[in-house]
Amino acid sequence: MAVLPIVKLGDPILRKKARRISMDELASEEMQRFIDDLIETMKAANGAGLAAPQVGHSVAIAAVHVQDNPRYPYKPNVPLTVFVNPTITPLTDETEMLYEGCLSVPDLRGRVPRVMRIRVEAVDRHGAPLDFEARGLTAGTYQHEFDHLEGRLFVDRVADPSTFSTWANFDAFHKAAFVEEAKAVVARYGG
Ligand code: NI
Repeated sequence: MAVLPIVKLGDPILRKKARRISMDELASEEMQRFIDDLIETMKAANGAGLAAPQVGHSVAIAAVHVQDNPRYPYKPNVPLTVFVNPTITPLTDETEMLYEGCLSVPDLRGRVPRVMRIRVEAVDRHGAPLDFEARGLTAGTYQHEFDHLEGRLFVDRVADPSTFSTWANFDAFHKAAFVEEAKAVVARYGG
């Protein structure tokens, strides 16, 4: 397994819609090795998720994993999930303004409205169907990764640019209040 370089904002690959892949391609040794590397890279960078275009491969594959994450200490744990060729359907109109960051957007956070209940349909890394509901902060994490596969970044969705903040200034000025908001989201939506 290898830790891959993470592509940063401004690279056109982050703006391309990722190609959906066939089940034969997914099963190939090359693609399975790539998925191992994607997971390894996400873990090495303490990401809550990572999408294939962020490591320079424009295919519709992303991973989500939260295990006591130091970058996002308020996020509930989410088991490692690799999702391939996903579609996301909103199950509610309710949104919350969540602070997000992105490994492809160094040292920037900002508040993004995210739908609080979504249905995720995809296949896993072995081609088995996935069909589940994600809620709350976890729904936000899935929407962020799905956006990457559509060529969208969280900065596109920041409704109020005055919420942009460096990570240090997020910690200094916004974290305490947001942790309370995040707890309320988890309590209300269960995720
Ligand atoms: Ni990202």
